[in-house]
Amino acid sequence: MKEQIDINRLPQHVAIIMDGNGRWAKQHGAERTMGHQHGIQPVRDVSEAAAELGIKYLTLYAFSTENWNRPAEEVNMLMHLLVDTIEKETPTLNKNNIRLLTIGDTDRLPLAVHEKFERCIEQTSANTGLNLVLALSYSSRSEITQAMQDIARMATYGGVRVEDINEDFVSSCLQTKNIPDPDLLIRTSGELRLSNFLLWQMAYTELYFTNICWPDFDKQEFYKAIIDYQHRERRFGKTSEQVTK
Ligand code: FPP
Repeated sequence: MKEQIDINRLPQHVAIIMDGNGRWAKQHGAERTMGHQHGIQPVRDVSEAAAELGIKYLTLYAFSTENWNRPAEEVNMLMHLLVDTIEKETPTLNKNNIRLLTIGDTDRLPLAVHEKFERCIEQTSANTGLNLVLALSYSSRSEITQAMQDIARMATYGGVRVEDINEDFVSSCLQTKNIPDPDLLIRTSGELRLSNFLLWQMAYTELYFTNICWPDFDKQEFYKAIIDYQHRERRFGKTSEQVTK
């Protein structure tokens, strides 16, 4: 399937909502936490596939602000899983020239988790291949609200004029300020929602939904999504004739 991908028309940024771990576990007669554990291999596979193809940004929705409301046991387990994985995988990230970044309210993470992420971010900061962005304790509305507060402060005390506040200015106040908008969003497990993920940034993103639960997602499924994306015509509000000229 990989050979069907046009390497000259790759999405620059792919975002993924990794959904269906709980349902996968239920289908296999296991605890929900088992589903999360089986969600690690697809993270490895997709990161490797994206790096090999030459995709520049891959953003994974690993933990939403709303996920804090899950049972404490599941939240704890997810935090341990994140830390263990990041600690174990840092050498592989370096081997594959992958730079780790995070977005979200990471101050809310347990201190040990926060520190390990900071360390991995620092240790991979010189890598120049794929940028792997993990959304942790992330909520798009809260990111936008934070940006509004910053802009109001700049307008009140920082000499920013109302006429200067345009779309680029707003984008530059978001946590994704140095990251291009996603070209493609993949959501697994058959749910057809954005779930408070990169709402501003996904104004023109192509959406791809698959019924496959995240633990069963693999490189072939990732290639399938890229091929589907390459058959889309991205018009950004223009006519078909305008964009194909
Ligand atoms: C959604 O499935 C999945 C999550 C809330 C967690 C995803 C996190 C991982 C796969 C670990 C990622 C690790 C790294 C290092 C990036 P769900 O539990 O909502 O499934 P359900 O909808 O079937 O209940």
